Amino acid sequence: MKSGIDVHLAVNLLKSGNLVGIPTETVYGLAANAFNHEAVSQIFIAKNRPSFDPLIVHTCDVTRIYEFTRQIPEQALKLLLAFAPGPLTVILEKNDLIPDLVSSGLPTIGVRIPNHPLTLELLGQLAFPLAAPSANPFGYISPTTADHVLQGLGDAVSYVLDGGPCSVGVESTIVGFQDGQAVIYRKGGLAVEAIEAVIGPVMVREHSSSRPTAPGMLDKHYAPTKKMILGHLPDLIHQYQGQNIGILSFTGEGLSGDHLFVLSPTGDDREAARNLFGYLRRLDQLPVDYILAELVPEKGLGRAINDRLRRAATR
Ligand code: TXA
Ligand code: MG
Repeated sequence: MKSGIDVHLAVNLLKSGNLVGIPTETVYGLAANAFNHEAVSQIFIAKNRPSFDPLIVHTCDVTRIYEFTRQIPEQALKLLLAFAPGPLTVILEKNDLIPDLVSSGLPTIGVRIPNHPLTLELLGQLAFPLAAPSANPFGYISPTTADHVLQGLGDAVSYVLDGGPCSVGVESTIVGFQDGQAVIYRKGGLAVEAIEAVIGPVMVREHSSSRPTAPGMLDKHYAPTKKMILGHLPDLIHQYQGQNIGILSFTGEGLSGDHLFVLSPTGDDREAARNLFGYLRRLDQLPVDYILAELVPEKGLGRAINDRLRRAATR
């Protein structure tokens, strides 16, 4: 069996330099020993990931972060104390224990304490942190179940710890710190509003290009293979009459049809985030030529959902 809940097996595989799929509350990660250059290089090969796209380093408590970073700025510490474990990644200066490959040559790394009991148990039994990007082939939709991981990277992973479907469903919110100013590099599973309630107003870096300082911000990302079109659904459906279409709606109000996926009938942003990637995958597997979709209200997790939808629709 390539997946299961055998933490002991996962520990041994990681200790000997293998790749293991790990559950988190956001998306599944493809993990390797973050101190082991050779093991980390396998991640880039498995994902077909360009070496200029840095990885996030996962650990299980705040005190351990000091082992592999130079310092934790005050605002970063406040956020960690408020939201870790949780869907937050902070950008911190790394020390020499972390190979340059992990950070793509940057002096900084993303650090995150994921909120999933199996993975916290795993991290607690390891003497090293885990470098882990999302466990999908580069550019494709992130995995939110163990099966998604096996579908995309089955040959590359030794084992997937199966922690069930991810409870948040979109990647962590990434926060960097420049001259005492917090900057959100990637909108994610922790709402901007929640961050601002703890450290005050933050800058949100909108949709930028493929700059080496924030490569996860590549315009085209999280993309299904089918052509995805964003807009006002009733208009789009009219326009694409007679074509093979799938529909991804926020609440489904006033819509019906065969290939209709509704993110949240009650209009709940958290439920919508949880369903987003799984529904995109299912739509991608249907015999349709186009996926028609609409944006959701730009608040709470809606910001991250819209960011992913826009990227998925970018050609
Ligand atoms: O929720 C998540 O964050 C998931 C789970 C597995 O933890 N991980 C994840 O990793 O989404 P990944 O590799 O798909 O996205 C990592 C992104 C990079 O693409 C980059 O944009 C950003 O994190 N990143 C990593 N290190 C960075 C750094 N030093 N400076 C700026 N951005 C960095
Ligand atoms: Mg990713």
